[in-house]
Amino acid sequence: MPGFELFSDLERKEVNDVLDNGVLMRYGFDGMRNGHWKAQELEKLLSETLQTKHVQLVSSGTAAVSVALASAGIGAGDEVIMPTFTFVASFEAVMMLGAVPVLVDIDDTLTLDPNAVIKAITPKTKAVMVVQMCGSMGDMDKLGEICSDNKLIFIEDACQAIGGFYNNKPLGSIADLGCFSFDFVKTITCGEGGAVITNKKEYYLNADHFSDHGHDHIGNDRGAESHPFLGYNFRISELNAAVGIAQARRLPEFVAIQKRNYTIIKDALSHLPNVEFRRVPKGGEESYAFLSFYLPDLETARNVSNAFKTNGVDACFHYYDNNWHYIRKWEHLKEQKSLFPISEEVKDGLKYLDTKIFEQSDAYIARNISCLIKLSWSEEEVKARAQKMADIIVDIV
Ligand SMILES: Cc1ncc(COP(=O)(O)O)c(C=O)c1O
Repeated sequence: MPGFELFSDLERKEVNDVLDNGVLMRYGFDGMRNGHWKAQELEKLLSETLQTKHVQLVSSGTAAVSVALASAGIGAGDEVIMPTFTFVASFEAVMMLGAVPVLVDIDDTLTLDPNAVIKAITPKTKAVMVVQMCGSMGDMDKLGEICSDNKLIFIEDACQAIGGFYNNKPLGSIADLGCFSFDFVKTITCGEGGAVITNKKEYYLNADHFSDHGHDHIGNDRGAESHPFLGYNFRISELNAAVGIAQARRLPEFVAIQKRNYTIIKDALSHLPNVEFRRVPKGGEESYAFLSFYLPDLETARNVSNAFKTNGVDACFHYYDNNWHYIRKWEHLKEQKSLFPISEEVKDGLKYLDTKIFEQSDAYIARNISCLIKLSWSEEEVKARAQKMADIIVDIV
């Protein structure tokens, strides 16, 4: 991660196909296309790769989460349980529909704690959204069970974990609906883009129509199509999809490189007595996009993180102090700073954030460092980096 590091003639060829016929839109203009339907081709490829019947490409991962929730009928006043450690897109996507994000603690997997999920369920709860952060996953069996016992929709945000597996199923394909991002920094990039995947035809058709103004996409006269319900524009363009085709074909190559680089660094750190790796649930296979580990306490993690930065070990994140991924710095959410009025239901629903303390999440995130695994590193570079990381940790801890 990220796939842009290895851009090649493969991506250029796909983009040139689109530019050669000039149709940048995924729908319509059948006569001009010379048979090029890049978004459709990428959907088919992802459906095979992710072993899931239906794929709807959209304009971003954030759009994918909103479209997935909307497709399952989640909206005004409904509560969606999600983790405290995620990207801001998770609550943005929920709130865009007028639903209420209910943040709960993570555990040593760095994703949803099933016990925290159970405690947060109320009569208003409609969905549980696990976010497969930093290339790994939650306890999917337990979370799935909680959802089926309580008749809740199970959403899987696998934006950061494409290429990982749980019990031999691709991450993103396990819950009722899965979401992916293909933004510029993801393992597979389209520049901007995302996908909703599902085995349920009804959800898929909803996603297909909702992401294109409610169009039913029947026939080949766009102006004559009917609109079974309201929608928006979350379409991907053919140019973005073209880049994604080349990248998606290269997923096995990218994951193999990630695994090699991850393993070199993990081996170098695994003999250090004060380093503990994140728990990967039994049956889980990471995507190797990040290596995440815990140090003994907050102060040590801060010192190691700073020493990494000053010694040129880039792309390692201490999320406790990071304002994109952890609740501690989300003042705009806690204070409900919005350009436009937020509904009373959402305001009320977010009141818990005035007082709620996430001690368990704090304890894990304070001690955690997650290091991005890059694709462009040579084996020698990774070995040198691994040694430097180990030396810094030994020096500080
Ligand atoms: C876990 C997670 N969900 C959603 C998103 C949103 O994706 P996008 O940037 O494509 O909107 C991201 C992006 O980083 C993410 O990491």
